Order: sequence, then C-alpha cells, then structure tokens
Amino acid sequence: MEEAEFALPSETDSFSPKIGLVLGSGLGGFTDSLSDSLSIPYSDIEGLPESGAPGHAGQLHFGTLAGSEIVAAQGRVHIYEGWSAKEVASTVRLFHQIGVRTIILTNAAGIVNANLKPGRWMLISDHLNLARQSPLTGAATFIDQTDVYSRSLREFLKAEASEMEDFRLSEGVYAWVNGPEYETPAEVRMLRTLGADAVGMSTVPEAIQARALGMRVIGLSCLTNYGAGLSGQPLSHDEVVEVGMQAAKDLFRLLERAVPAMGEV
Ligand code: HPA
Repeated sequence: MEEAEFALPSETDSFSPKIGLVLGSGLGGFTDSLSDSLSIPYSDIEGLPESGAPGHAGQLHFGTLAGSEIVAAQGRVHIYEGWSAKEVASTVRLFHQIGVRTIILTNAAGIVNANLKPGRWMLISDHLNLARQSPLTGAATFIDQTDVYSRSLREFLKAEASEMEDFRLSEGVYAWVNGPEYETPAEVRMLRTLGADAVGMSTVPEAIQARALGMRVIGLSCLTNYGAGLSGQPLSHDEVVEVGMQAAKDLFRLLERAVPAMGEV
C-alpha cells in the first residue's frame, strides 16, 4: 500500500467527516459554531505546511454542524508566501486521505463586476487560473475542467439560499491572481474584460486538486471590497478581514441549512 502523505494525532481517529470546509480570510470565526469540536494545530500534523498570514490561524477543526460531521481548515497557505501550488493544495489531499468527498472552499475576494455588492456571497461558477500555476505540475494529469464546481450542488445551494431571509447569493467567475499586492485599476478592468466577476489569491489550486482526486467542489467567495478603481477608496487587508467576520455569520446560516442534505444531492 502507498504510504499516507499526512500523519494526524490519534485523537482524530474517531472522526470520519465526508464534508470538508476551507475557511478564507476573516472567516475563521465560523468554527465557533461547530459542536463537539476538536481543534488540532497544523503544526501537529506531519506533512502540512504552516500558515503565517494575519487572519489565517492554522488549525483543523473536527466537529458537527446541524448534526452532520464536518472538518474545517481555518487558515490556508498561499503562493504569495512562497509556497508552490502543490503545497497550497495540501489541505485538500489531507481531507481526501481522511475520507472527505465533498469540499467547500471559501475565500475573501474583491469585486470586479460592479453590479455585485460588498458583504455578499458569490457562488463560484467557474474560474480563471491567471496565476498560471497548478498543483498537478510534475505529472501528465490531464483532468477535465468543464464542471470544476459541482453543477448539482450549486443548484441545490441556490435553492436553499433563495428560501433564506436577508440573504442574497450571487454567482460568477473567480479569477485567481498571485498577489500579494492588490490589483491596479487597470488590472481590475482587464479582469472584467476577461470575464471575471471577482478576484482573489486562493481557492483555484485547491479546486483543481480536489477535482483531480474526484471530489465534489463548492466555491464560495465572500465579496469583501470593490476591486481597485471601482469605488475610489484604497483597499486594506483590515477591511477585508472585518467584512469577512460579518459575512461569516451568513455563511453559517447557509451551511447549517445545506450541509445535512448535501450528501444526498
Ligand atoms: N483582490 C485580490 N484579492 C482579494 C481582494 C482584492 O480586491 N479582496 C480580498 N482578497
């Protein structure tokens, strides 16, 4: 048998979540809503890179959400910290190793389509890999990317969201850029021309990795700010984290409804 890539502390053996969640900037507070939870720092897991960016704590939480077992990764690493796309996608391979088959990737993103509003969530329908890096580099892994983000799960989430009070779920294309600097106004105009609705520095390598492993993927962008040049205001990471913290409550409301039925969709 092939040796496992990751070694987890034995306390995690009693958990067998089928659904995994990756939390983006400012969304870590979500884990307070999990019951019966066990938290493991990334440093206790052999094989995982450790994250250091502000707002990315670096812990794995096992717990239940509305009665369903899930695992949530709070904090991820990015290519702007110097990690490769393959290292960035480690969490996804770890989730797969422990039996996760549906993964929900969340992020904070800037708005490129001016019809969208800060504070809202956008379901990712497709992506643009503008960082031009892949977690699959090194082997001839020619995976199909027609439906990276599960069509049936998207339809299901949209139907759930439409029944919620004061919650509007948009849908659109997410562009992955290297960062760490935010875009220039000219770059935001370019991204719009290319067909992007939102822009961010994560999620795409994890989505590619998850599809390569045959997992079902959901991508959810928390639209924290207008992209450069769209509002006349400068961008700040503090604002991104602040808006994310507010929006984490809406994410919880949506997932609390959706997760228990997600296995059957
Ligand atoms: N650009 C790129 N990444 C981001 C942004 C942005 O405006 N906001 C949050 N993450």
